[in-house]
Amino acid sequence: MTVTTLNKAKLTVPGPRPLPIFGRTLLLTNYIKDTIGFSKKLFKTYGSVASLVQGGGFGIYSPLDYCPGMVFAYGPENVRQVTSQHDVYYKYPLTGGLYRRRDESKRTEPLKHFGVGLFGVNGNNHRQQRQLLMPAFHKARIESYRDDMVSIAQSVLDGLDIGQPLNICQIMREVTMRIATKTLFGADIGEGAGNCGTLLQRVGYLLGNTKTSIFPYDIPGLTYHQMLNYMAQLDDEMRALIRQKRVTGGDTGDVLAMLIQARDAETGLTLTEDELLGHVSVIFSAGHETSATALSWTLFLLSQHPDVAADLLDELEGVLQGEPPTIEKLQQLPLLERVIKESMRVLSPVPWNGRVTSQPTELGGYELPEGTEVYISIYHTHHMAEIYSDPEKFNPQRWEGFEPTMHEYNPFSAGSRICIGAGFAMMEIKMILAMLLMRYRLQFLPQEPVNRSGALIVMVPKNGMKMIIRKQDREFNQGASGVWGNVREMVQLPQ
Ligand code: HEM
Repeated sequence: MTVTTLNKAKLTVPGPRPLPIFGRTLLLTNYIKDTIGFSKKLFKTYGSVASLVQGGGFGIYSPLDYCPGMVFAYGPENVRQVTSQHDVYYKYPLTGGLYRRRDESKRTEPLKHFGVGLFGVNGNNHRQQRQLLMPAFHKARIESYRDDMVSIAQSVLDGLDIGQPLNICQIMREVTMRIATKTLFGADIGEGAGNCGTLLQRVGYLLGNTKTSIFPYDIPGLTYHQMLNYMAQLDDEMRALIRQKRVTGGDTGDVLAMLIQARDAETGLTLTEDELLGHVSVIFSAGHETSATALSWTLFLLSQHPDVAADLLDELEGVLQGEPPTIEKLQQLPLLERVIKESMRVLSPVPWNGRVTSQPTELGGYELPEGTEVYISIYHTHHMAEIYSDPEKFNPQRWEGFEPTMHEYNPFSAGSRICIGAGFAMMEIKMILAMLLMRYRLQFLPQEPVNRSGALIVMVPKNGMKMIIRKQDREFNQGASGVWGNVREMVQLPQ
């Protein structure tokens, strides 16, 4: 991948005019605080293609030297253009603007591969690398993870304190993080190789902290410095693990073992150690916070829709009779599928697809110069009244006989960059929900407002989500004093 200095072409897509001096920074701060709310206002004022700042952007996602501005768009036609024109809309590593710092010192070297994986390659390179990864995500392979998913979910559910208020987001994160670690490395956390999972989570957490991008100085006490420390440890541990797996040889059932053995059918090339590190960091980062978030929002929506929760429990008990789902039984749970689809429509865990234009192009009638950051909104497309009647209503039954196109409904994106882990995620979410709901009833606890996070990448409940865990007694109710917070802008809750 080459990073070039671009001609300073101007962006002419309509957007707010910044006030002098701090105006641009103020706009950016407001955007980062709440990307969904901020862009909703932009779309209302300027239409389905709008810009944040004309005449010079910020490059928060783009690692290129110059960014003419940020453009936001939604709607099926814009989704189609951006997700199908791979040579025009490029993706860059997860480290965003920090990727520019990779050559600064020995300490910044891990930035050369961390978060690169499939995110940081384009064109033919992406096609080839994705082909090498595909076998690890084929149906039969994913299904082989069923027993691990069941035993990890069981062990987390066994440890829950009944009658206590618990942060459901934290619990879901623990379960999906342990599943990701086990399926990627073949080890649960706490077991030797499982340490990589913990380090990956720490690096990811610091990378997501805005202080890391605002103060990228390698000085003790700063989050950037701490992130580089963890990255160095992670590199050492991962390289040792890869070498150990190479010596042992054979397919030990985990994703990493499979990637080590992957070989291009035409060229015979295998993945280098740096490429392996990149893929593992991306698969882990993309694969556990997303599923945990989908689970947390779904549990929230079920807690606020007692009728749906009761019908879902009837379906689960009728088919599974209290047992963890087998692969065959998972196919016999249509309401479970609809609940998850509807939850990911209303409260999309990944609300944006970020891209950078590799050449001048046109979107929605506007010229976009090379280097423009383009954010295409999955969330706002999912809330279009032209596609979904009562779009803010959580109505799983709408999916009966309803088949929107992939550009109208795309929680996993669309085109050749569609989420490679979608099958894995759906199976994992179904397994965990089924096992949890047959055993426990989750009572929403209105202690704090339910607000969305800034949602630059994943839209999580900002303050977590407190719920009391009860034995499943079918006493479904919304909780005494109602829900407040900006979640009410996104979904209409029954009174
Ligand atoms: C509910 C859970 C998940 C959601 C909502 C989700 C969503 C997405 C989206 C929207 C993209 C495309 C981003 C873009 O084009 O800018 C994506 C890509 C990706 N996802 Fe997921 N994802 C989920 C779970 C997973 C899991 C479990 C894994 C791995 C085990 C995974 C691995 C990946 C990878 C590697 C890519 C990059 C694909 C490429 O560029 O070719 N995701 N995901």
